[in-house]
Amino acid sequence: MKIIRRPEVMVAWSENLRRQGVTIGFVPTMGALHEGHRSLIRAGRRRSDALVVSVFVNPTQFGPTEDFARYPRVLDRDHALCRTEGVDVCFEPTVEAMYPKGYQTVVMVSEITRRWEGERRPHHFQGVATVVTKLFRIVQPHFAVFGQKDYQQVLLVRRLVQDLNLGVKIIICPTVREPDGLAMSSRNIYLSEQERTIAPLLYKSLKAGSEAIRKGVIEAALVQSTMAAVLKQEPRFTIEYLAVCDPLTLEPLTLVTSKAILLGAVRLGSVRLIDNLIVSPARNQRAKRLSSA
Ligand code: PAF
Repeated sequence: MKIIRRPEVMVAWSENLRRQGVTIGFVPTMGALHEGHRSLIRAGRRRSDALVVSVFVNPTQFGPTEDFARYPRVLDRDHALCRTEGVDVCFEPTVEAMYPKGYQTVVMVSEITRRWEGERRPHHFQGVATVVTKLFRIVQPHFAVFGQKDYQQVLLVRRLVQDLNLGVKIIICPTVREPDGLAMSSRNIYLSEQERTIAPLLYKSLKAGSEAIRKGVIEAALVQSTMAAVLKQEPRFTIEYLAVCDPLTLEPLTLVTSKAILLGAVRLGSVRLIDNLIVSPARNQRAKRLSSA
């Protein structure tokens, strides 16, 4: 596996392969790779001739009180995982190479970032949109793979690619979970032993909401209170949001009569957890909707 640190070297490598008709796949990451990343890398490997993984802890997507400084940086372990999975290039630029002195350009995607994570983490999505645009320009992939775990990020990236004609196909992989349901995340290592035992309640609350919908509940408020009831069993959780939304626009729904997404964000001690589930209403609710259309 080749390790490339300089953006201009990465550009030259990709341009050369593209000229030869090689299909380049790309998995952007911030490192501290886990089984969730492994599934993205495998999805990329299956579809590409050459696969690039980037490892870059992007400072511009962290707020001033967030965990940029303590974000886990374990390059040797990341290299080992990439090697095992047959990655061709690990692109790991420095902050100075990505944002040199005098840098002043940002990319902003408006509507889709207005709510939820965008509301709680000002500037986060501007940082993500900017770095993803830069990484796409540098790596020049034919396709890129993202995880459903960061659902709002996935919608942002799709919008960005369409709006800026970036010509990169976006592939979404399902969230990979621990056996007890907790969504895998590089930040799970911040959880204390005790917090780790209750963290799966977030997924359980989404499952409860999804069950309610499957059983025929269509009032979003009722679904929301079903999800909240699960989390309220454990006073150590602070709920940031639990929402029932349109899966394309992320606008909150009043009634769930077609596919929806359940979004959840909580704080547990110093750790913030997010998760989501896509749900379809009970068959008879869909039928009712069709007959009244
Ligand atoms: O999902 C992530 O790890 C990051 O937001 C990304 C897409 C690598 C951009 O820094």
